[in-house]
Amino acid sequence: MTTAYYDDIADWYEEYASDTSSVYMDRVRSVLADLLGEGPGRCVDLCCGTGAHAAEVRRLGWTPVGVDLSGGQLRHARARLPVARADATALPLATGSVPAAVFVLAHTDMPNYPAAIAEAARVLAPGGRLVHVGVHPCFVGAFADRSEPERIVIDGGYASRKRTVRSWNTSGVRARVGAWHLPLADLLNAVTTAGLRLTQVVENGSAAVPDVLAVQATKPS
Ligand SMILES: C[S@@+](CC[C@H](N)C(=O)[O-])C[C@H]1O[C@@H](n2cnc3c(N)ncnc32)[C@H](O)[C@@H]1O
Repeated sequence: MTTAYYDDIADWYEEYASDTSSVYMDRVRSVLADLLGEGPGRCVDLCCGTGAHAAEVRRLGWTPVGVDLSGGQLRHARARLPVARADATALPLATGSVPAAVFVLAHTDMPNYPAAIAEAARVLAPGGRLVHVGVHPCFVGAFADRSEPERIVIDGGYASRKRTVRSWNTSGVRARVGAWHLPLADLLNAVTTAGLRLTQVVENGSAAVPDVLAVQATKPS
């Protein structure tokens, strides 16, 4: 099992992710709702963290269940949804058993996101839907200076897939737990290589340059 970087900051993350005045989290949830659509059925919230999106998934008519590596994060999540402590690359779920799976703000937290996408594809039922909502791989990361929202400066670090704690924001999540970067092509290829059909891609941001990229994909019937 990979390292649970969030154990030490789970109380801080709980406050950060459940801040009801966060316009960013509202946007993330709104994109998630648009791409996930309405249930019913089980929706696995992969890398669920503190379960910050469980209420939204439930509002859409799904029955959320959460999976995360961090016991600290799950201590908060368990008040919001049923959870299991597991690695997203080795899920304790039967093949073809769930109609929906989501990853929200998760891909920069693991060294091998394509393996997690492949594992999500395995547990999805034929016709099932995968939704990924994450930071935009082109405009958010250690390689992007975002101190001026209208003029993001990208450096050559875009090509690096190594973990780093370098961040333009010294008090945010990434300065605390670090991040892996996945270039755009790697992310999209991970979805198609897993045998999923890409059905929608959304870019979202509060300024002209988007800071969120979301993908909807379907497992062929
Ligand atoms: C930025 S948090 C996002 C949490 C939640 N999805 C949200 O949007 O608030 C990333 C989460 O991914 C979890 N994580 C990282 N690697 C994982 C893995 N291999 N399997 C399961 N969870 C993992 C971390 O423990 C952390 O809770």
